[in-house]
Amino acid sequence: MFDVEKIRQDFAMIRNNPDLIYFDNGATTYKPDSVIQAVNDYYSFYNSNVLRGEYTTAVKADQAYNNTRKVISKLINSDIYEVSFLGNITACLNQIAFGLSRNYLKKGDKVLLSYGEHASNLLPWYRLQKDIGIEIEYIPLDIQGNIDIEKFEKLFDQNIRLVSIAYVGNVLGNIQPIKKICEITHKNNALLVVDAAQAIGHLKIDVKDLDVDFLCFSAHKMLGPDGVGVLYGKYELLKDMEPLLLGGGMNARFDKDGNVIYKEGPERFEAGTPNIEGVIGLAKASEYLMDVGLENIHEYEIELKRYMIEKMSKLDNVKIYNPDNISSTVSFNINDIFAQDVATYLSTKNIAVRSGNHCAKILHNLIGTDQSIRASLYLYNTKEEIDYFVDIVGKTTLVDTIDVFL
Ligand code: ALA
Repeated sequence: MFDVEKIRQDFAMIRNNPDLIYFDNGATTYKPDSVIQAVNDYYSFYNSNVLRGEYTTAVKADQAYNNTRKVISKLINSDIYEVSFLGNITACLNQIAFGLSRNYLKKGDKVLLSYGEHASNLLPWYRLQKDIGIEIEYIPLDIQGNIDIEKFEKLFDQNIRLVSIAYVGNVLGNIQPIKKICEITHKNNALLVVDAAQAIGHLKIDVKDLDVDFLCFSAHKMLGPDGVGVLYGKYELLKDMEPLLLGGGMNARFDKDGNVIYKEGPERFEAGTPNIEGVIGLAKASEYLMDVGLENIHEYEIELKRYMIEKMSKLDNVKIYNPDNISSTVSFNINDIFAQDVATYLSTKNIAVRSGNHCAKILHNLIGTDQSIRASLYLYNTKEEIDYFVDIVGKTTLVDTIDVFL
């Protein structure tokens, strides 16, 4: 049974900040004790480099590091050798764009993106637009960021070679019908890249069932440590994709004349010493999520969001941009007050939210504002926190937000 009070006890950040209402889970999430303990144990008992040493602690570190591939493959239902660890999801998306620019995309090929994408799923493709002459087209979205499947299907012509979209939007929390999108994309002989940054740890993801070609996410958004990105790709696509970073660990051999053979497995993309403690902690985060159950988490988040929307809809000083999306994010503005000033004021009331454009700098073309306040919830948030939050938001005036700066 889902027991939020029990869950809250597992998080040092909650125990140590009992008065802080943390609604910025879209930016990063808290870590359960098991993750912190795993990182601590690695540094305290078997700190060694990985995949390079023969001594006992190094072998133990290798085992723990590689074990995370197993755990992640269970979490997303992939094969072990389809899981690679990079620095963050941004690194993963850059790797995919760069890799595909070498052996797949060419001048005149079209890539479909959307106004709802984060900078990390736009800028790498913009670079390919400049460097190799790909063309970019935007998938039409409704006002809450959702793709209309019929319109999407009609976009295809033979030049569209790739679709790259977020599973869940980081501002509007819109959940895209990825399975259907994938089916249509494949029917049209194109590839699908999925940015799962805001989906992982919130939804049950099965890459085999979805049939996506690439899917990536960051550990820190799913209760894991900072500095780890997970790149999933179908093996036949990953095995000869050009790596962006070259160095130790990713090559099978090379000679003085510059002949280099790269590894074929996931280590191909893991040049240099990886974030070992982060990868080890990620296994514990994944296990924590699987123990609670992704379906339970999603169900609880929907309950929280519905509760929040119901209460906020009664306020006459707010505009909500995504009332109908069934995820854990509520984006809004308080009438006539600059979003960042509201966030600063809310901080004086012990509420943490994000404000601004949330790195989704072309989303304003869709929602008509480039500033919003985002309350992003997670499994350890409560209805009591929402009550307090909505009460403060409802009472916030322009004078309150100016007073903070005086
Ligand atoms: N991408 C993160 C966010 O949406 C940082 O806040």
